[in-house]
Amino acid sequence: MNDQLTNILFVGNEPTTVQNLKGGLGDIGGDFIQVASAEEALASLRNDTFQLLICTHRLAGMPATDFLERVRQESPATVRLFLSGFSKKEEVAGVVGSGAAQHVLLMPWDEGELLAIVLKSLKQSRAQRQKDSDLQAIINNIPSLPTLPTVYKELHACLANRENYSLTKVTEIVQQDPASTSALLRWANSALFGQMGKIENLKRAIILLGVDVVEGVVLSESMKDALAVNPIEQFEIEGFYKHTVASAVLARQLVQRLDDRGPEAADQAFIVGLLHDMGKLVWAKYFPDKFAEALRIAREDERPLHEVEADILGATHQEIGAYLAAWWSLPQFIVQSVRWHHQPKQSTADKVLAHAIHVADTLVQQFEIGCSGNTCVPEVERDSRVRFELMTPTMMDALQEPLESSLPFT
Ligand SMILES: [Fe+2]
Ligand SMILES: [Fe+2]
Repeated sequence: MNDQLTNILFVGNEPTTVQNLKGGLGDIGGDFIQVASAEEALASLRNDTFQLLICTHRLAGMPATDFLERVRQESPATVRLFLSGFSKKEEVAGVVGSGAAQHVLLMPWDEGELLAIVLKSLKQSRAQRQKDSDLQAIINNIPSLPTLPTVYKELHACLANRENYSLTKVTEIVQQDPASTSALLRWANSALFGQMGKIENLKRAIILLGVDVVEGVVLSESMKDALAVNPIEQFEIEGFYKHTVASAVLARQLVQRLDDRGPEAADQAFIVGLLHDMGKLVWAKYFPDKFAEALRIAREDERPLHEVEADILGATHQEIGAYLAAWWSLPQFIVQSVRWHHQPKQSTADKVLAHAIHVADTLVQQFEIGCSGNTCVPEVERDSRVRFELMTPTMMDALQEPLESSLPFT
């Protein structure tokens, strides 16, 4: 199968729909393959490149949501369309809510509408392929992608089983790295985690913070190490890290306000806050001249930095950051939040995290805490304000004082 052509995989047993689709698509210059079961479909995706997968409710082998989630993980470039048929309401809600499919068509579907969605999906797939090849061209200009330091890899392996790990071992691993040790002690003694200057012992700091935050902080320190950069005009590294730390604190505080989210989501928001602008470090490390030019143009033309990056560097810091996060095999909640922190509605993972980091990132810039390199301060998107009940400027301004009093720096 030629991966330059348009190949569609249809999973289900709907002969009429398949015939009509084939007729409607005419000569699109690719293959239209039909399989009946989830396992056959996954095998096909492993062997060939498909731009579009159409999955119906009558799917043998596993629930549609689980199947679509597997496709998302194993073949992320394939656009996923779900035809609901007579699915249970909960199944459709699950597919839509989790973002397992990018398009959902409810029964009774109109064949014309189905064709229109398929054509739109193929257009989306082509645009994505173009974007991927642009990004690949940028990656090809980096001599070798940076690797994360051993301390993070060892810690990640040690914590692979969250139910059964050795606290002593975790402490031994972390204390090999002075930067991570001092960062953890600083956070353990910050108002954000409920302490003010009482924790001097690393093991106690780890217990207080919990292993999710510990792994996130070590990851953030490891990222600084892997992406250590030389100073660039208009991109002052200390101000940049203040921006990320303040974004982490505010993102955590925002998620803590939600009744339907537990402490795990608040910790994830904190971790994402620390990492969300990692793509800017990639630009600063590997493309310093072009990044300096993008910073200059964004400032002079009063344009959002990420828009200028797309023009000057060929991709945004969200795109290159998410690429590196995926290459480092970081969890999807990090990859997706890094990718969509400027367009949270488009996240296909937990949208709450993307909204939280979008609000935090934007307000931290408005409050002028640190500096992200972006001089054109944006507005918070309406959907994000609704999610966190921040409908007026006064409500947003009210976040500044609790944020500033929780920062581990002055
Ligand atoms: Fe950003
Ligand atoms: Fe940011």
